[in-house]
Amino acid sequence: MGKVNETQIANILKFMQDRHVFASIERMTYCPVDMEFAMSVIETIGTYRNPKFRIDDENRFVYENMVRWVHGDTEMKCVSPDDSKKVIPGDIAKGIYIAGNTGTGKTWCLDIMSKYTQLLNIGIKIAGERHALTWGGFRADAIIAEYQQTGEYYRFAKQPIICIHDLGTESTDALYMGNRMNVLRAILEYRGDRSDQITLISSNIPMEHKMFTDKYGDRVASRMREMCNYFELTGQDRRKF
Ligand SMILES: Nc1ncnc2c1ncn2[C@@H]1O[C@H](COP(=O)(O)OP(=O)(O)OP(=O)(O)O)[C@@H](O)[C@H]1O
Ligand SMILES: [Mg+2]
Repeated sequence: MGKVNETQIANILKFMQDRHVFASIERMTYCPVDMEFAMSVIETIGTYRNPKFRIDDENRFVYENMVRWVHGDTEMKCVSPDDSKKVIPGDIAKGIYIAGNTGTGKTWCLDIMSKYTQLLNIGIKIAGERHALTWGGFRADAIIAEYQQTGEYYRFAKQPIICIHDLGTESTDALYMGNRMNVLRAILEYRGDRSDQITLISSNIPMEHKMFTDKYGDRVASRMREMCNYFELTGQDRRKF
């Protein structure tokens, strides 16, 4: 029979695309981004919430590239999670991981960007179906509390888009009816194998820090780079300003 010819290759590709054989994330195009307009929308949302809200040198890179990410702009950049922390191309099909010390504005950044996408009605196609690109956000310790009360964690694993705050502050040893479990590890491992889900995370633990591997294990650690674009927020604790 020999190799498949070009027409057959085209047919195979069309078959797979039409049926979403490898379910994936597709962006609806909103490019080019008017960055000046976007940043003034963000400042308006932020100062509505707290008059002290500022975009400054500590957070501008993260906000600007979050804007590119929500708009599906392939020019988006992030930083390398290894020690070099160099600026690298982002991937709009992946989620977001923001690390940084307490009070640097990680949770606010993810919250405000979700309000921004609601305001602009930004959508995303997951396995061919339109979803609003917006997220509420669950604290990692609240996910554990729910597991300890009900035994449920699968609903967090399955959500097409999820935002988990304060990853790393939760107990890694949750107990439900005699079952001990590292719930966040199970959720992240599940999501790490999917190409049709978006995971946003804020954490005090850098993504490639030994503490991360100690808490969630090698299987999760090795999936993180594929799952998320990485950012770090630096600077002072903004709660003290
Ligand atoms: N861009 C900003 N400009 C000014 N103040 C801000 C900004 N972002 C956040 N803040 C203030 O800093 C406080 C802490 O922000 P946030 O809760 O996002 O920090 P965090 O990095 O998530 O901290 P933690 O690691 O403790 O969860 C907020 O309550 C808010 O008052
Ligand atoms: Mg936080």
